[in-house]
Amino acid sequence: MSDKTYPPSADFAAKAHVDAAGYAEMYKTSIDNPEAFWAEHGKRIDWIKPFSKVKDVNFNFGEVSIKWFEDGTLNVAANCIDRHLETRADQTAIIWEPDDPNDDALHITYRELHEQVGRMANVLKSLGVGKGDRVVIYLPMIPEAAYAMLACARIGAIHSIVFAGFSPDALGARVNGCDAKLVITADTAPRGGRQTKLKDNVNQALLHDTTDVKCLVVRRTGDQIAWRRDLDFWWHEEAEKVSADCPPEEMGAEDPLFILYTSGSTGQPKGVVHTSGGYLVYAAMTHQYTFDYHDGDIFWCTADVGWVTGHSYIIYGPLANGATTLMFEGVPTYPDAGRFWAVCEKHKVNQFYTAPTAIRALMGQGNDFVTRYDLSDLKVLGTVGEPINPEAWNWYNEVVGKGNCPIVDTWWQTETGGHLITPLPGATATKPGSATLPFFGVQPVVLEPESGKEITETVAEGVLALKDSWPGQMRTVWGDHDRFQSTYFQQYKGYYFSGDGCRRDADGYYWITGRVDDVINVSGHRMGTAEVESALVAHAKVAEAAVVGYPHDIKGQGIYAYVTLMTGEEPTDALRKELSEWVRHEIGPIAKPDLIQWAPGLPKTRSGKIMRRILRKIAENDYGSLGDTSTLADPSVVDELIENRMNRG
Ligand code: WT7
Repeated sequence: MSDKTYPPSADFAAKAHVDAAGYAEMYKTSIDNPEAFWAEHGKRIDWIKPFSKVKDVNFNFGEVSIKWFEDGTLNVAANCIDRHLETRADQTAIIWEPDDPNDDALHITYRELHEQVGRMANVLKSLGVGKGDRVVIYLPMIPEAAYAMLACARIGAIHSIVFAGFSPDALGARVNGCDAKLVITADTAPRGGRQTKLKDNVNQALLHDTTDVKCLVVRRTGDQIAWRRDLDFWWHEEAEKVSADCPPEEMGAEDPLFILYTSGSTGQPKGVVHTSGGYLVYAAMTHQYTFDYHDGDIFWCTADVGWVTGHSYIIYGPLANGATTLMFEGVPTYPDAGRFWAVCEKHKVNQFYTAPTAIRALMGQGNDFVTRYDLSDLKVLGTVGEPINPEAWNWYNEVVGKGNCPIVDTWWQTETGGHLITPLPGATATKPGSATLPFFGVQPVVLEPESGKEITETVAEGVLALKDSWPGQMRTVWGDHDRFQSTYFQQYKGYYFSGDGCRRDADGYYWITGRVDDVINVSGHRMGTAEVESALVAHAKVAEAAVVGYPHDIKGQGIYAYVTLMTGEEPTDALRKELSEWVRHEIGPIAKPDLIQWAPGLPKTRSGKIMRRILRKIAENDYGSLGDTSTLADPSVVDELIENRMNRG
């Protein structure tokens, strides 16, 4: 890790929302007097009925309860659209860049957004969706995804977006998990020149559903699709039948805005619940400060709306701020590895936000793909999703930013709603690989992993937890508040436990070292090893499976699976392929194992517990330091696994 620091230029700092002194002062106020601080910043959004209570939080296991601005009422869609109409109706709200660069981009103004969202809201109502009902959105990156999210918010329905790369099974589980009334999808999704048949996936997902979930279908490609009579509706047909005028529903600050499923260390993915008031305040405020967003800037976050990054920094944060936000349907490498930079040049992007995995992949393609474009409008570059290695940081800084754009390495999670640890571009001297310092109101602590004791010395290494709440924090797991408490508040009493390890240096800077639980981070996407294991053992030829992560040059982590076959099954390369495809089919392409090792036996304790520590070491090709293996029921299996390890790099 490099300790070289990059202070913001005086020029940048002078024009920024906050400089170093401003950050120090505002941070201190936010910690000394959180009530007053958040009472003030809570006013950045429009309330129908203003709040009188700011914060009511209990982090004690067994009594966990988190409320912000709880007696205020508002409508999130009105905050993202209506309140801007007076001053910026004709400003572009969303720039849509299609997968194929030869197709036309769209510039959707706030006025047009208002009309489309009003129509979609009325269509949802006409299909029987009301306040508090759940709607699953399974759409590609097209403007209708934004309309659908905001239409739900407008009528008080709760959306649950399922990433369009998930399989029918994963989709079905999420539809059932929240008892959705409606699924919104498209016929086919073009991405990187390839086509995903989304509507077919929905049909498969709902095949065995007895509750007759309806489906609203956006026509993206016009491809032939199978239609379920009486249950399926075309968006463009229904839109004709309703008015564009839909008054926003008055919602409580703590009414759920959305559910988003994310992987944990055990069991199936859990439905993270975010509510309306605090989430919007936090998404909007972090968007403004972290990216130093100013009126008129063009902001581009390359995430998919299927992940929390897309929720907070393509839709809710930017639109609440009256920004112009870019939505990209494609992938970084189509038609070639210059696409990101072509889009930056074409739309004069000012703030660009992407993931380390994309940076590493593009870095490997050579600098020509970057230097052939005019990137002089870029002001700030952001990253998110996993630790960024200094080499990729330096490339991003020098080749993309030409040394002129502060880099914001933002640490946060689906659970946190917005950035928790991040530089502010006009205030924070950056160090490649460090997420630097906490955002306003955020109190990170480093705990001793075993004892849970807070390490008070500045220089520290341990697990990362948060001492108090911030408005964007998740409130519960959908339908399972006990799981919420036991996942985040049980192991370290009195704190929110992030699941990440970290180091704090002498300057108080945080360096995230990665997950300390059985969650792996593949290309910035979270995957529970338990999920992949349960997909593998669902295959008829598999007796047992154990899955771990290992370092991967581009993806950050790759998926390494140890598989024990049923007696009599032949361990062939064809079967390896079959199992990979099987997992892809069960969960989705992002869960496909990179390496599968046949394991006649797995290292287990006498009580039958798989010792993952050992499996991790072997997968990392670091088998010289396995530690104590004497407690294993059969230590000889370890030698066999080392002998036949798949990663020898
Ligand atoms: C996990 C959360 C929040 C948006 C994307 C991922 C890792 C995230 C960073 C960063 C190091 C990071 C952590 C975290 N992570 N950002 N800047 N530096 N690690 O959201 O799927 O909820 O995953 O991603 O391990 O716990 P997510």
